[in-house]
Amino acid sequence: MRHARGLIISGGPHSVYDHSSPVIERPVLAAGIPLLGICYGQQLISQLLGGSVRQGDKGEFGLAILDLLPAAASSQLLAGVSDHRQIWMSHRDVVTALPNGFVILATTSTCDTAAIEDGARRLYGVQFHPEVVHTTQGTRILENFVFNICGCVKDWNPGQRVALVEEQIRRCVGDRNVFFFVSGGVDSTVAFTLCLRALGPSRVRGVYVDTGLMREGETEFVERTFARLGAAAGFVDNAVDIARCESEFLTALDGVRDPELKRHVIGEQFVRIQERIIETRGLLDGHWILGQGTIYPDTIESGGTSGTSSKAATIKTHHNRVPGIQKLMEAGQIVEPLADFYKDEVRAIGHQLDLPAELLHRHPFPGPGLAIRCLCSDVDAPVTRIPEGWLIPVRSVGVQGDSRSYSPVLAIEAFPSASSRLQDEATELVNRTAVVNRVIARVSVREPLDRQRVFASSITHGRIALLRRADAIVRDLCQSSGFDAQVWQFPVILIPLGAGESRDSIVLRPIRSVDGMTADSVAMPDELLREISARLMSVPDIAGVYYDLTHKPPGTIEWE
Ligand code: XMP
Repeated sequence: MRHARGLIISGGPHSVYDHSSPVIERPVLAAGIPLLGICYGQQLISQLLGGSVRQGDKGEFGLAILDLLPAAASSQLLAGVSDHRQIWMSHRDVVTALPNGFVILATTSTCDTAAIEDGARRLYGVQFHPEVVHTTQGTRILENFVFNICGCVKDWNPGQRVALVEEQIRRCVGDRNVFFFVSGGVDSTVAFTLCLRALGPSRVRGVYVDTGLMREGETEFVERTFARLGAAAGFVDNAVDIARCESEFLTALDGVRDPELKRHVIGEQFVRIQERIIETRGLLDGHWILGQGTIYPDTIESGGTSGTSSKAATIKTHHNRVPGIQKLMEAGQIVEPLADFYKDEVRAIGHQLDLPAELLHRHPFPGPGLAIRCLCSDVDAPVTRIPEGWLIPVRSVGVQGDSRSYSPVLAIEAFPSASSRLQDEATELVNRTAVVNRVIARVSVREPLDRQRVFASSITHGRIALLRRADAIVRDLCQSSGFDAQVWQFPVILIPLGAGESRDSIVLRPIRSVDGMTADSVAMPDELLREISARLMSVPDIAGVYYDLTHKPPGTIEWE
């Protein structure tokens, strides 16, 4: 603390009124160190210094416009920031009275204290989130704080990061060897290649587990990619072996409906297979440790940014953070070369390593695979009409106010068009209708929605096969039309909604994002949407096609 140049108190899912909320000690505020509070951080500073914070009942999630007040003209924090620019909000509580010495620098149409400061004491607060890409001038604000107010100097050179990471790998691994589960995705392939370069081919092995939850053609893609990588690195035999384990995963998932439990079951199954492979290959001499492609957002969203005392809320338990893996971490038997990086940085490292663009620009695909895109339901219940549309009683995961929500979905009758007007309406609808966390538009249905119901269902071989076929249809059309390159990720989701013999529907979820932490629902050309819908509806088991209009937040990218 004595050597800190400045402090940033971040946002979080808490309310300053809860006794268990994280606090800072008052002397910190009087230490003369510049301090920036973001969201919860602003509320905490304000409350501790004698201001007041009001508990909101619904909150504000999504985009807003920042209106600068005259005081902003002389603010170091907002120096060079232009008026009327986009910011991004995710909060329930709000500061309603300022502490002595503070002035308001900016407002929005719904928040009177969007940015505040006490310039003399170098204390600052923003209700919005400058750290997300949707706040267009967020980096400028953070640079103002870090470099101009705190006087820090930039000494991090991205060009040197490969050499630095390789050095870290050598230090962490010591004289042991590394064993990887690769998925064919960007993260594990980049992590694997870094270890290969740092340690040499004789000390790195990989196994690809075909869980039966993969996309069409995935196993063949992985075989081709690693054969090429292995040949380039001088392997004598295969760099990566394929383990076919479909029936084990499906048996373990039998009857599992809860989204968090699905991830746990899959993560633990991976650990069991890992143990078996290590045992059967005689890798139990203490000389092998596990390598993982975990990246920074995986750790943040698992609520694990500061070990056991973490105050970050769990949005999802990443499959790389289940108890079996945590035990290996505690025993120092895991190396995660990418744990400090965001997706865009991982791709940049991949380019530095000369990995093929075909691989680096693949859309991210989650480790638990199609299982978190195959929605299950505990209930068997009809769709109900409400003034805003139809309430679909299938529950999907969302993120509201930095913590996880698990709520029904609202379906509206509208054909999504190239304009993003519907997406704006959807955000407004979710903020207004406290019971849902997502809005979908009906694209095509076999039976009217009031005749449809949600069926009690779990993961089965048949449902995964149906989802895999639908996903392949969508991927094929998106690749041939070039739409694929316009989106960051395009989950295709199966939900147990239908009527008669057709008991499942498809939700299309194309999104744009930079790091997966926040995302925008993207509109697609009418003609492509009609073609996708017609091809999907030609599959007899598909009861309908819908389009997810929800940004993240309030809806996560995956439905789970
Ligand atoms: P959400 O759904 O949380 O997803 O908005 C953000 C990003 O994370 C990916 N994701 C996962 N990746 N294991 C993974 O390897 C998981 O359990 C998992 N869950 C979500 C998701 O595809 C998106 O890119």
